[in-house]
Formats: sequence, structure tokens, C-alpha cells
Amino acid sequence: MPNWLDNAIFYEIYPQSFQDSNGDGIGDLQGIIQRLDYIQQLGCNAIWLNPCFDSPFADAGYDVRNYCRIAPRYGTNQDMKQLLDQVHRRKMRLILDLVPGHTSVEHPWFLESMKPEENEYTHRYLWTDSIWEDFNGVENTTGCLRGISPRNGSCAVNFFSTQPALNYGFANPDPAKPWQKSSDSPEAQATLNAMIQVMDFWLKMGCDGFRVDMAGSLVKNDPDQEATIRLWQKVRAFLDENYPDAALISEWGNPGRALRGGFHMDFLLHFGPSRYWELFRSNAPYFSRKGKGEIGGFLMKYQEFVQECGGEGLICLPSGNHDMERMSYFLDEEESKLAFLFLLTMPGAPFIYYGDEIGMRYLENLPSKEGGYHRTGSRTPMQWDDGVNAGFSTAAKEMLYLPIDPNPFRPTVQTQQIAPGSLYHTVQKLINLRLAHSALQSNAPVEFLAGEVEPYPLVYRRKNQEEDIIVILNPSNQSYQYTLPWKEEEVQVLYQLGGVCTWKERVVNVDRETGLLLLYRPAEPEDSQGF
Ligand code: NOJ
Repeated sequence: MPNWLDNAIFYEIYPQSFQDSNGDGIGDLQGIIQRLDYIQQLGCNAIWLNPCFDSPFADAGYDVRNYCRIAPRYGTNQDMKQLLDQVHRRKMRLILDLVPGHTSVEHPWFLESMKPEENEYTHRYLWTDSIWEDFNGVENTTGCLRGISPRNGSCAVNFFSTQPALNYGFANPDPAKPWQKSSDSPEAQATLNAMIQVMDFWLKMGCDGFRVDMAGSLVKNDPDQEATIRLWQKVRAFLDENYPDAALISEWGNPGRALRGGFHMDFLLHFGPSRYWELFRSNAPYFSRKGKGEIGGFLMKYQEFVQECGGEGLICLPSGNHDMERMSYFLDEEESKLAFLFLLTMPGAPFIYYGDEIGMRYLENLPSKEGGYHRTGSRTPMQWDDGVNAGFSTAAKEMLYLPIDPNPFRPTVQTQQIAPGSLYHTVQKLINLRLAHSALQSNAPVEFLAGEVEPYPLVYRRKNQEEDIIVILNPSNQSYQYTLPWKEEEVQVLYQLGGVCTWKERVVNVDRETGLLLLYRPAEPEDSQGF
């Protein structure tokens, strides 16, 4: 595991919407360079950048046309080199978004593969041998393209219809369908090699690893995902040999499997078995003050994942991402502070989606942009200040990638930085605490002390060889009592958020909407003092 992951705190940047440096209304790499100090000041020491490669942008860049070229609207490969240098200068890291499962229909590989004559790319994608045969019943495909070229066959689609599926083979190829190659076939291997070359290209330039899109979906008809796991193990072997400091994080949503595949970390997300959705979103989020939420199901799943991972690897909790409604759609600023207290004191590397640290809103009912659909409302421009276009761009309003939140009271970095008790300051403070206490960082284990049976309060212990810390969280509107394993005088309150808590011996009265971070500090035996 690369050492830098021990205390990594990631900031996710959707490049379209972060900072426009050339006045065309779309964010770009030079804009990100201008804002690196901001990210560093917040305390994040790593960045995940959504796809920034050449693309027709039918799916916001998750439809790649050229894996090795920065999209001109974001700048040049030289700008990427400069961004990486600037990131490293600040002792930060940057991971790119690898989209290995599909390309754009405009990718030259696909254009070649559409030709009826056999060529190098004939088997780069999943094609049937006849236009009359489709991909019905093939897992992890979302339909197919038919009648789009003289080639006699249908091509599988991985997500939108503009995203043909690359060929990593089938776990159990049907012998009656010769177009179904095995995942060990030379054809599948050739696709994997091509993707490894893409990784090599950016790693050589200095990138620090990849977030991998739909990582669990590559091999088809692979119900237990064993063939997909084997595929990723080959990628990990390549990294271990050539770039041991490079990090791999998967969009898999199933850490046990992802980590067996060689990923260093996996996300818990809005899909999959994790029940992540119930924490900050859903009809009754756990972190709502209404106090109607549940966390037991999440904790059970979480511990199962930890066991499956054998204590290795990182299970990562994001504040949100470009695919889900922002947290602030479900939680107000005070509730979000407690949510961040949780996110920033759990194991694994936390991920903060740009703008979540200032409580940016999810904009409802925006017309879909670049395949965003309901996701579009979470992808609007970063709100920096009260200047033109909230400091995002000097372009005319109509030219902006997406409209800025029209609410006159929209949060901005500027207003949040001025207000002492703001969400921004809470997040910054929590990041600093995490960085200052090794027991709060990625690898120290967690033990849940309360929350599984009765949902409130949630209490957990983070302990390593150096420190012992208990986190108590009561997001609800009622106070609760909790009996600590320590006496009051043995405890240093590292941080308190929200209400007033009173103590009686070991019993803490945890006020409504309160979070506490307690460090164990046993009194030294008297006779050892001073000697
Ligand atoms: C997951 C990405 O996060 C999402 O934005 C994208 O549309 C799909 N994968 C397809 O690549």
C-alpha cells in the first residue's frame, strides 16, 4: 500500500465546473492550478480529477475518444504536466479517472472495429457475429448498437448508447457463441494491455494513480466477479513492479472483492450492498435532526466488509460525488457538520466532493447537460465569491457550462471563510484534527460501541499504538446518555460540535445535535511524576 494513503484526504474535482481560467465558461486545468492553494488550505492533500480526456462529452467525459490526450477545452498535455508538478510541489497527490469499460463511439478503435474487414481492432469491443443476435441476457451490458456500420454484428453497450463495451471476455463463454471469448483469450488480453499502456502513459507523466470507473463490470457473465478480480490482479502486478507508489481506487461498491482484485481502496456508494445512502440521503437520513434514521444496517455491512478485507485496504466514504444529489439536498448546514465529523473520523480515505465543504446546493430540474440527467444539479460551477459568475468564470452568463446557483444567499468560499462557525471552518478544523492524530487516519481500526441496536447515539473508538480516541455522535433532536469506559478526568475533549454535554462519573449526557471527540489521557501514577 503506498504510504501516502495513510493520511490521504481527497478532494474530488469535476473539471468542467471548478475554475475557468480563459473565459470560455468551462473550467480547465489552469483554473485548477490557480485554486490549488485553496484545496491545500482546506487541508486536503490529494485530488481526484474526473475524466479530462479528449471526448465528445456525451457522458461528461466518461466517453473517451483519446485516452492519452487532454480534452482541448481543459488545456493540453503540457498543462496536465504543469498541474502535476504544482500538486507535487505542495506535497499533494493527484489521481486521474480511468474509464476502462467502454470508450466513446468516436474512439478510433471503435471506428476500426466497425469495419467489416478483419483488423487489429475487430475484437477490441464485444460484437456478436450477426446483426440479428443481440446481448440479451449478458450481464453488465445495457443494450447494444445495431445497424450502425457494414460490419455484420451487434456491439454491446456498457452504459449509454454512445459507450460501446470494450472486450475483456466472458467468465463462462457459451461454446455455441464463438464470439464470446474467454477472459483469458488473447483478444481480452490485448484490450487489457492497451489499458495498461494508457495507465503507463499518465503514470510516466507523474500522476499518482487512478480512480477506476465501473471497475467490477469488465468481464461479462461473471456472476461472482472472480474473472474480473483476476484481471485487476494483473493490473496491480504491473503497478507493483513499475509504480509501487501509485494508488488504485475502484468504483465497485464491494470492498472485499475490489481489494482482492488488488485495489488499495474501494468506495461505498449510492449503489451496491453498503447502505451508504441511508447515512446522509434517503427519506430519513441518519444525520437528520429528525432522529428517524437507522445506522445499524450500515454498520453491520461495514464490519462485514472489514472482515472480508482482512483488515487490509481502505474502505472510502465520500461526502458525495458527481453522480448523486448533493448532501445539502437532504441535510442543512448544522446537520452536515455532524455528517462531516463522521466522514472525517472514520477509517479509509475520506473524499470531499468539490463545494460540499461550503454546502453548495443541488439545483433541481436543470436541463440535462452532457448526459447528466438528474445528476446535473450536482455539477454546477463552484461558488468562490460574490464577483461575476461567483468567481468561476469571466464569460457571459449564457456561456457558462451550467448556471450558477441563482439563490442570492448561495454559499461561497468567501462568505464561508468570513463566518467563524461555518461549515467550511468545521470541515477545515476536522481535517486538521485528523491530520494531527494518527488514530483518526486511514488505517487505525474502528470498533463500534453504540449505534447498532439503538440508532442514537453513534459511538466508536479509533485506536492504534499511539492513541485511543472515542467519537460520540448524536445528530438527533433528543439528548441521550452514554457510559464511557473512561472517567471524566481521564479524558481530553479534542473537539466538541453542537450542544453542551454534561458528565457524571463515566456517564455523559450527550446533548441533541452534538458530536464529541475524546482522547484517552490516563493520569500518570503519582510516584512516577517528575522522575
Ligand atoms: C460511473 C461514473 O461515475 C458516471 O458518471 C458515468 O456516467 C458512468 N460510470 C459511466 O462511465
